[in-house]
Amino acid sequence: MSKRYTITAALPYTNGPIHIGHLAGVYVPADIYARYLRLTGNDVAFICGSDEHGVPITIKAKKEGVTPQDIVDKYHAIIKKSFEDFGVSFDNYSRTSAKIHHDTAQNFFKTLYDKGEFIEEVTEQLYDEKADQFLADRFVTGTCPKCSNEEAYGDQCEKCGSSLNATDLINPKSAITGNVPTLKQTKHWFLPLDKHEAFLKEWILKGHKKDWKPNVYGQVKSWIDDGLRPRAVTRDLDWGIPVPVEGAEGKVLYVWFDAPIGYISATKEWAERVGKDWEPYWKDENTKLVHFIGKDNIVFHCIIFPAMLKAEGSYILPDNVPANEFLNLEGNKLSTSKNWAVWLPEYLEDFPNQQDVLRYALTANAPETKDNDFTWADFQAKNNNELVAIFGNFINRVVVLTDKYYNGIVPSPSNFTQVDEEVLAAIKAYPDVIASSIERYRFREASQELMNLARLGNKYLADEEPWKVIKVDEERTKTIMFVALQIASALATLSEPFLPFTSDKLKNILSVTSSAIEMSWEDISTKNVLLPTGHQIGKAELLFSKIEDEAIQQQLDKLIASKKANEAANKTVEPQKDTITYDDFSKLDIRVGTILEAEKMPKANKLLVLKVDTGIDVRTIVSGIAESFSAEEVIGKKVTVLVNLAPRALRGVESQGMILMTENAEGKLVFVNPDDKSVANGLHIS
Ligand code: MF3
Ligand code: ZN
Repeated sequence: MSKRYTITAALPYTNGPIHIGHLAGVYVPADIYARYLRLTGNDVAFICGSDEHGVPITIKAKKEGVTPQDIVDKYHAIIKKSFEDFGVSFDNYSRTSAKIHHDTAQNFFKTLYDKGEFIEEVTEQLYDEKADQFLADRFVTGTCPKCSNEEAYGDQCEKCGSSLNATDLINPKSAITGNVPTLKQTKHWFLPLDKHEAFLKEWILKGHKKDWKPNVYGQVKSWIDDGLRPRAVTRDLDWGIPVPVEGAEGKVLYVWFDAPIGYISATKEWAERVGKDWEPYWKDENTKLVHFIGKDNIVFHCIIFPAMLKAEGSYILPDNVPANEFLNLEGNKLSTSKNWAVWLPEYLEDFPNQQDVLRYALTANAPETKDNDFTWADFQAKNNNELVAIFGNFINRVVVLTDKYYNGIVPSPSNFTQVDEEVLAAIKAYPDVIASSIERYRFREASQELMNLARLGNKYLADEEPWKVIKVDEERTKTIMFVALQIASALATLSEPFLPFTSDKLKNILSVTSSAIEMSWEDISTKNVLLPTGHQIGKAELLFSKIEDEAIQQQLDKLIASKKANEAANKTVEPQKDTITYDDFSKLDIRVGTILEAEKMPKANKLLVLKVDTGIDVRTIVSGIAESFSAEEVIGKKVTVLVNLAPRALRGVESQGMILMTENAEGKLVFVNPDDKSVANGLHIS
């Protein structure tokens, strides 16, 4: 039965590109869901956009010496392109700086204001005297009063998921200057969540929300059980949507007030574009509203936004909020600031046209019920052992053999054996099996069922061996190939939500793109024949290709480099040594020299034997730099040389001086050159 769905995916903050964690947690599952619902004939609005307000964006802008608008313009374009590149099929990808959003958010605020749904209060807020600025949200860090995490933010603790007010933090510290903030009076508007407690209890705890995922339900329940308090929905900031009431000059809407309204504005923008009415998507009780988010967004989507919608009065509430847990990368938390991530634009550069591989690896290993780890080894295995060896191999054999035996024309079957009948019946069952998993938001399970159908096909061919049978029984071979082609065509449609690019390719290969032969999800269950006898299919084309160890090693090397860079950045600088006199200093004779010759010291990993022109003479210096440089690359280099160091023998070669070196961010020795940006301040010269 066709139904109307409004599907939202969390609006990403526009202060960096998106990485695999975003894709696995939110956008791939949401896209599978939306594509599946469209394929099964539903009326779907799949909505997203850039979340362009909020403190992190202003902090980044300050750091880079540009305007917040510059930052969001840059990343909005990058993020939007990534979604397109990865086949995330939003009906609209909008942005919260759009006029339609400013208008919608301001009107929403105004409506609640006029209805008396806010408390207006002058309170003491954290203030940074040095920065001359109020501190809320990400401008302030401190200890979480609930779980004692020392790195909680002024609006949220990312460790326990609690939503906080900045004044709740123990030992607050300004993120701008590091100062301890003072308190200063300012007027703000608060949404009295306590007033909505009874409704939230009724709706979530007593309502049908028992079918929400346990992680979501549990978090929301503990939040409600703790008691709800009024929450400020305005801020003293100059980046955001101006508060549209008198006496609010210089104040903007809190980002978490405006961003979810972005779902509504983006729906309006889309409806206008395609000539539809937006209101049923948000106001008709028969519409199913589903929010796809990561677990750090739960309270905002299950408590605050529903309270806002309820207070407004004319909106529907979410039917479900299938939040995912977090994805880790090679055992560590994904982190933008530590560059511990696989960024989508970089992935596509390294693995061009392999979007479906990442989509599949992330789905098959999605963090649905607990945090999960993405490893490159698993990514390679998912590709080589499943997509290539099972799915791709099956399709390739079917298409190649059909071409070889019948010039690509679907043959006519004769009697079906019991195995054939079972396989044909199994095909018919798959749409419901996969649908049932998708409808319960179990995308991992759904992706495995899809792979099981390919497995069935592979096994069928391996058992029936048409390449042998063709030599003895042409009629039987036709039947086998006919059955195998039916599996292939079911895969073409059923793979679409998960592997949209592969599905397109496969439909092309099977020539099932014309409307006459195109099949819906439902057809697979109801039709006896999907690819009819006499239908002409195309030529084989590789759907997937093997990923070699070198490609995986390259990715691991990238991660090792960012780990080293982080370690270097975090290295504690050694304390200063005892003071020396100028006389002490003047004893050092340091000269500029040029390396004329270099060779490796035999049987020593670290040592190079150098001939250096010091201007005084050409002398031999033994230097422990062989792990960072080859002999060839140092010849001709200008270096700094301590020439009056007492000579000493290293492995029997007398070294007459020392070349001054330091370390770069990756722990590699480098010649002293203060202009080298990769060298951190405070590192020793030695
Ligand atoms: N920008 C938020 C984040 O990345 C998500 C916003 S979701 C919305 O965590 F509901 F506010 F849109
Ligand atoms: Zn906490």
